[in-house]
Amino acid sequence: MAEPSKPLRIALAGLGTVGAGVIRLVEANAALIARRAGRPIQITVIGARDRSKDRGVNLAPYVWEDDMVIMGERDDVDVVVELVGGSDGPALSCARTTIEAGKALVTANKAMIAHHGLELAGKAEAAKVALKFEAAVAGGIPVIKGLREGAAANEIERVYGILNGTCNYILSTMEDTGRDFADVLAEAQAKGYAEADPAFDIEGTDAAHKLSILAAIAFGGKLDFAGVDAAGITRLRAADIAQADSLGYVIRLIGMAETVTTAQGKVLFQRVQPHLVPFDHPLAHVDGATNAVVAEGNFSGRLLFQGAGAGEGPTASAVVADLIDIARGEIAAPFSVPVEELEPMPRADAGHRSGRAYVRLMAADRPGVLAEITAAFRDAGVSIESLIQKGRSSDQGAVMVAMVTHEGPESAVGEAVRLLNGSDSLAEPPLVMHILGD
Ligand SMILES: NC(=O)c1ccc[n+]([C@@H]2O[C@H](COP(=O)([O-])OP(=O)(O)OC[C@H]3O[C@@H](n4cnc5c(N)ncnc54)[C@H](OP(=O)(O)O)[C@@H]3O)[C@@H](O)[C@H]2O)c1
Repeated sequence: MAEPSKPLRIALAGLGTVGAGVIRLVEANAALIARRAGRPIQITVIGARDRSKDRGVNLAPYVWEDDMVIMGERDDVDVVVELVGGSDGPALSCARTTIEAGKALVTANKAMIAHHGLELAGKAEAAKVALKFEAAVAGGIPVIKGLREGAAANEIERVYGILNGTCNYILSTMEDTGRDFADVLAEAQAKGYAEADPAFDIEGTDAAHKLSILAAIAFGGKLDFAGVDAAGITRLRAADIAQADSLGYVIRLIGMAETVTTAQGKVLFQRVQPHLVPFDHPLAHVDGATNAVVAEGNFSGRLLFQGAGAGEGPTASAVVADLIDIARGEIAAPFSVPVEELEPMPRADAGHRSGRAYVRLMAADRPGVLAEITAAFRDAGVSIESLIQKGRSSDQGAVMVAMVTHEGPESAVGEAVRLLNGSDSLAEPPLVMHILGD
């Protein structure tokens, strides 16, 4: 690491949306950043796949390095910023070699942190270098800093929120226009709001990556991405959105993590699932590509972090905030607590949870089917608050049956669904969305 008054020298691996944004930000705010950091932040080395690509920024002042894996080994680099993406491959090799070379690493790569964060944090702690990833969760929102620093004195038992801007854009557009999922997704792709391969976003994987990182930081537990029960928004229909609206709800993809104290100790529940959110809940007003995170601290009360979850400027802002911390000499444990001291938290199923749920079924249009459905709910001990049967759907000749349950254990709704699964009265498995409580 350079002397405190000397510039902090940065290598940028990846010059796409975020990489180009970091160059623009560091150039535009250089003087302000140097004052706040106590020393200049200077990009020295850059690299991407295609050297000839026009990225809308002048790359002439920087040294080009073809091999991002060795950036951290160069003498003219103090910190490598990994902005390539992918959980493994060159991003992971770059991260490992950088830390092993005794250099700090900043990344926006939630997939890599979700899969390999504990290993990388362990290496960084051993090498006494910083590993920082503010931009990996909720883009420009300083939620990791907020939890690690602002809320550091609190016991946090629950953290939840809207963690994927693409899904939120699709859901709020379906809400505003009444159009169906596939149609809105195609438009989002054409406008560049959704990736050409949107699977990570719409199937809930991206939100699950972020949730697992948040949970580890909020609870001081071992990061457990594989323990997130993740569902996306692909099964939603325009009719679900309209039905929710008529009942006083919007639909949002919610990532939810909480700890539960059992006789065996603390266990961790992590789930990503579309929820019905009451109109008067703060998350109901989070529209478009915005993200929001709620954390409940035992002394702070409910904290709400909201802002742009992605995009060049906001994501670059989070990356450079990490660089400023490093320039100031901060080398805190990446997950707040040293990796060895993170609590191993066994996985909890939804057995402890109770609440109300929305269940939608596509049922055969013939006598007796409604009785079969209500019998399954009765046998599982679920009490139905309202049941709405819509006209025949255009596909499969099925009718849509939507119901809202009374407050009760989630496990009972799960049991009703199990009883109905495979029934030839249903054209597809029931869709369950829980209703977000207070
Ligand atoms: N975009 C956002 O709003 C956002 C928000 C939060 C977090 N992130 C995360 O930030 C990271 C970067 O995202 P992005 O949107 O900036 O991605 P991007 O626009 O696709 O840019 C990726 C960059 O990596 C380079 N690259 C790819 N494979 C490479 C390789 N094998 N060797 C060297 N360079 C390689 C590409 O080079 P070429 O340009 O030459 O092809 C490109 O410059 C990802 O981890 C993403 O999840 C992004």
